[in-house]
Amino acid sequence: MDTFVIEGGNPLRGTIRVSGSKNAVLPIMAATLMTADITEIDNVPNLRDVQTMSKLLTHLGADVRFTHRRLFINTRKVRSWEAPYDLVRTMRASVLVMGALLGRFGKARVSLPGGCAIGARPIDLHLKHLSALGVEISLKDGYVHLQAKHAPKSTVRLAYPSVGATENLMMYAASLSRRTVIAGAAREPEIDDLAAFLTAAGAKITARRGHVEVSGADRLAGVQHRVIPDRIEAGTFAAAAALTRGDLHLAGARPDHLGAVLKKISDAGARVEEEPDGVRIVARNRPRSLTLTTMPYPGFPTDMQAQFMALTSVGDGTSVITETVFENRFMHAAELSRMGANIAIDGRVAVIKGVRDLKGAPVTVSDLRAGAALVLAGLAAKGRSVVHRVYHLDRGYESMEKKLKSVGASIARRRN
Ligand code: UD1
Repeated sequence: MDTFVIEGGNPLRGTIRVSGSKNAVLPIMAATLMTADITEIDNVPNLRDVQTMSKLLTHLGADVRFTHRRLFINTRKVRSWEAPYDLVRTMRASVLVMGALLGRFGKARVSLPGGCAIGARPIDLHLKHLSALGVEISLKDGYVHLQAKHAPKSTVRLAYPSVGATENLMMYAASLSRRTVIAGAAREPEIDDLAAFLTAAGAKITARRGHVEVSGADRLAGVQHRVIPDRIEAGTFAAAAALTRGDLHLAGARPDHLGAVLKKISDAGARVEEEPDGVRIVARNRPRSLTLTTMPYPGFPTDMQAQFMALTSVGDGTSVITETVFENRFMHAAELSRMGANIAIDGRVAVIKGVRDLKGAPVTVSDLRAGAALVLAGLAAKGRSVVHRVYHLDRGYESMEKKLKSVGASIARRRN
């Protein structure tokens, strides 16, 4: 298993180009199943999760090619509607094929994703609301069996704005030749990107402030689509600039997708400048302490919580971070403590007493964003850190060590 060896202490200076969004491309890849056509997706990041979704589409009968950030997906010969356990268990986002397969075939069989390092993560909301749209659902041998029937209702109201449930509902609704309303829907930019894709393919979707209206079409067509930039990757590098007291230009970042994150970067004392092609972060001093609570978009993203724990670890004062989206998402706290951070956890609340310096140490990554936090901490720490299990990072950060190296970090991948 690969490790990163980091010598901390270098301020990051220069330009990093932000890759395409992982969480936008995965549902769009699933949605291509509905087209029975050829789709071209541009600005696709080369990530393990994208490879896993490609494998799943190939398993279903699609022809998938990836060259130069472009994915060509031909779904004409797709004949299967079953997402097997082996693929779903390696990536939870595989459940996003559920809505698309239902749309294409009127039925689907999808393995239950099971537990996950950052909490139980059930799919009860996906199933409850698909059922309200007329889908018959049964559970057997660890699989969900879904069968489209006549829909009694054309409006569903989500009690919680689940991103994945909203996406599955949008895809299924895009196949129904009538209007469906999804109220209380997620508002993440990735939802808008999926809406843009489905609309280009022939459905009609408006998504505004958690109110999504879908007018479906019998047939969706293959189109060309460019994926939005990855706001979490951009936010991670913004936090790295603040933590190392650097000066980074994040080329291609969309400040309009990063509101809550940039506000906290600026509250921490860094200067945030919007530029014609991205954002610049300039930090000169020790970060100020912060209070933040993770929330569904447009609130502060849970996917940035770990990175901000690394930032506040060296903050000037005591910070309080509350995690409301996932239970059990503080696994990085114990590893950061091994580097000298002073963190106390009580349920969903972390209290971080800032220390002047972190110290390099061997640490182990438990999940994708926890890994990002440990890399950031290693970049700021005094001395050498060895980060184990970087395969978690390869799921969601494209060429992370190369990008960091290009702006002055001392980081190397050791292949074991
Ligand atoms: C997506 C993102 C993930 C991000 C998360 C929250 C992708 C591929 N992943 O995950 O990076 O951290 O949004 O912004 O886009 N829940 C239920 N029942 C359900 C569905 C969800 O209880 O049926 C709970 C989950 O356990 C979790 C919370 O709702 O506690 C948020 O989950 P959700 O918004 O669905 O996240 P994902 O779509 O899985």
